[in-house]
Amino acid sequence: MKVLCIGSMNLDHVYMMDHIVAPGETEAVNEIKNFLGGKGMNQSVALAKAGANIYHAGMIGPDGLVFLDACKEHGVNGDYIRQIDEFTGHAIIQIDKNAQNCILLYGGANQKLTAEYVDEVLAGFETGDILLLQNEVNMLGYIVDKAYEKGMQIALNPSPFNDKLNEVDMTKISIFLLNEIEGGQITGLVDPKEIIASMKEKFPKAKIVLTLGKDGAMFAEGNTEFYQPIFPVKAVDTTAAGDTFTGYFLAGLSEGMAIPDVLKMSAKASSIAVTRPGAVPSIPLRKEVEEALK
Ligand code: RIB
Repeated sequence: MKVLCIGSMNLDHVYMMDHIVAPGETEAVNEIKNFLGGKGMNQSVALAKAGANIYHAGMIGPDGLVFLDACKEHGVNGDYIRQIDEFTGHAIIQIDKNAQNCILLYGGANQKLTAEYVDEVLAGFETGDILLLQNEVNMLGYIVDKAYEKGMQIALNPSPFNDKLNEVDMTKISIFLLNEIEGGQITGLVDPKEIIASMKEKFPKAKIVLTLGKDGAMFAEGNTEFYQPIFPVKAVDTTAAGDTFTGYFLAGLSEGMAIPDVLKMSAKASSIAVTRPGAVPSIPLRKEVEEALK
């Protein structure tokens, strides 16, 4: 089974601060670092490191060729990535002393996908293959409709949550991977159990994975529900923790692993990712995750 991610590639400019700057405030930066990121690329790399057969599609500018090297390095098939005459997407990320972050996002080439390009990419995939999407590229509604027509299983991480998601027919989604804030935004609820119940009612055929930060993660599908606590660690940078969880979860699912094992592996992988700086470079290899689980 192939997994296709049509998703963002961002050059992440990371500023280490004592605290995240507030409106009207000027704050000195302790350290600046540059990493490869973007929710799409982070999740593709997590899938690859977990051992999945992953293809990444999306757009970069001339300043983003480094993503092609990263695909080769990490085992992501990057043949569908197209270079256009635009700036590559970038993110300005502030990280405070407690490893909390806030992110400013410039879409750039990520927002230049066309129907023609999407059709060309989807032509390489078939019924049963998994399509993974986040909300950092344009054309999401069109991509979902076309992939659904083909009979692909569509996994959606509705992040960042905004009005652009209104163009997506959510009833066509097979797997939702979302955090409690996004779950709250979709359902209008706060309590995780109520969010799960409402998601199940709205999307009765879908698998739902709800991550709850330090409170772990919940899975629901029909009458089946599982809970996975976190593996506590000292975090230095939580960027891409959710992306690591998502990539590992889909990799385990595509292998046919039992859901409780998939959840455990994903939680362990993201607990390792938060102990390391950066997005793409923080994602652990499957071997490391399995060693750590012993
Ligand atoms: O999920 C983390 C990612 O969000 C970062 O890598 C940044 O690029 C933003 O897209």
